Amino acid sequence: MDLKTITERRRGWVKGIVLAGGLGKRLYPLTKITNKHLLPIYNKPMIYYPIETLVDAGIKEIVVVTGGNHAGEFLRLLGNGQEFGLNHLHYAYQEGEGGIADALKLAEHLVGDDKLVVILGDNIIEKSIRKQVERFKKQRQGARILLKKVSDPQRFGVAEIKNGKVVSIEEKPKKPKSDYIVTGIYMYDSKVFDIARSLKPSGRGELEITDVNNAYIKKGQLTYDFLDGWWTDSGTVDSLLKANNLVARLKGGKKK
Ligand code: DAU
Repeated sequence: MDLKTITERRRGWVKGIVLAGGLGKRLYPLTKITNKHLLPIYNKPMIYYPIETLVDAGIKEIVVVTGGNHAGEFLRLLGNGQEFGLNHLHYAYQEGEGGIADALKLAEHLVGDDKLVVILGDNIIEKSIRKQVERFKKQRQGARILLKKVSDPQRFGVAEIKNGKVVSIEEKPKKPKSDYIVTGIYMYDSKVFDIARSLKPSGRGELEITDVNNAYIKKGQLTYDFLDGWWTDSGTVDSLLKANNLVARLKGGKKK
């Protein structure tokens, strides 16, 4: 392969990050003896779904960031990632529960100068994100987020949209400015690590991914797409049940 081809291939190279740290306290006692992302969603452990979402989008190299007392189980479950068709599966360990942006920082040395697609380990979706990832690959710099209209926006990061642009994002606002929430799928250039390093912990003591996204808004470098199909998180008892039911219906295991 000549240098030009290698460089061109490299330009389209995007790494995947699955964030599966945290203590899953909202699911106690289910998460007392295991990690939230190892709990079942219909016929597979939760973490399979975000990994499959990335693989379906054409990503060949993934970093799983996990933590807590059950981190070793991920290695037993996922091995070297071959079962998913991955070239490489890397692991990073998050001490404590410092927040989503804190977990992301741990992937820096494995990502280098590549672009990255981050997905939260408890986000389950119906349809492919391939076309959105392709758009991001063509985006020269900055970040791209995926929005979804929901009926309970106050549980999430909420986007304020003006003249077709996201002008602000508020984390779990009491009075949401829209019904459009920022799903846990984020695409970034490698500048994201400089931003993450500059963050201060929020009121709940975490480095917030919403602060990262607002930093990109400030730079005028945040774009967005809407997510196709249904989307849900699965980090509370109700949303875990919802995710199980949605996947069961999708797989034809349960009639409507
Ligand atoms: O699901 C989408 C929402 O996820 C966004 O709309 C919010 O803006 C974003 O802050 C996040 O909200 P949650 O409060 O639902 O996030 P949670 O603390 O449940 O964490 C979600 C995943 O992130 C979790 O499954 C694993 C990972 N995580 C979280 C924390 C706090 C880590 O890897 N490390 C952490 O320290």
